[in-house]
Amino acid sequence: MAALRSAMVGQTVKDDSISITRCLQPTYMSSIVLFGPPGAGKGTQAERMIDATGLPQVSTGDMLRAAVKAGTPTGLEAKGFMEAGQLVPDSVIIDLIKDRILESDAKNGVMFDGFPRTIPQAEALEQITAVTHVIAIEVPDERIVERICGRYSCAGCGSVYHDTFNPVPADGCACGHWEEKRRADDNEETVSSRLSAYHQQTSPLADWYRSKGIFHAVNGDRAIDEITVDILNALKV
Ligand code: AP5
Repeated sequence: MAALRSAMVGQTVKDDSISITRCLQPTYMSSIVLFGPPGAGKGTQAERMIDATGLPQVSTGDMLRAAVKAGTPTGLEAKGFMEAGQLVPDSVIIDLIKDRILESDAKNGVMFDGFPRTIPQAEALEQITAVTHVIAIEVPDERIVERICGRYSCAGCGSVYHDTFNPVPADGCACGHWEEKRRADDNEETVSSRLSAYHQQTSPLADWYRSKGIFHAVNGDRAIDEITVDILNALKV
């Protein structure tokens, strides 16, 4: 942890009581986008970034899964698209985000995970909140299937784990309410549709954001901790 703090503040940390939150929070009051293919590690990194940035994680995937589970009109509309590995229509997603951004925890900005995914979504976002950094977690397609098919999470707190790369500790999740949960769309067949949707509809956003000078790519095909350090450094630029 001390090494992580040193990388973030760019100096030797002498006082071990310095917190990640204190190092970064004052500088980052606007929204951040975590961008990348399915299974790139957006959710994993977002979870680690909450304390460091002071920004809440806003995952459109999580919001849609909650809507499907609750059987809301949004959930009923989204369900078929999600099961097929296709993108949910922009109008549905933009309405979700417009509502979410009004909540009190979003007043200083948010950390978007899995949004925007199309240029119309990004254009709508420009009207909603300022984005200071788009962090692209780059992972080759051949790694994605093993990442997604081995994923599970804690039903209690949502922490994400992996059968091989990031297993839950032997004594269960730190939240104390360990219960394993696997996603319905985490199978080989759906992954290939999700990857196609990413390449056709989402990856053009990389150039769109690059042209705005706020795009930062990190190599996501490495250890989780190393990627966290790179992201925190990118957020200082
Ligand atoms: P969503 O829930 O957003 O899924 P996704 O983009 O496919 O991304 P994932 O959540 O699968 O992956 P992740 O990048 O968060 O990876 P994770 O950290 O879990 O969307 C689901 C569906 O909802 C979409 O298909 C679409 O239908 C719809 N939808 C959502 N948003 C939408 C939008 N804006 N517009 C339209 N439709 C929308 O990591 C994956 C696994 O790898 C984990 O097990 C983890 O432990 C492991 N792992 C993480 N990092 C590493 C590492 N460095 N090395 C090894 N393993 C690692």
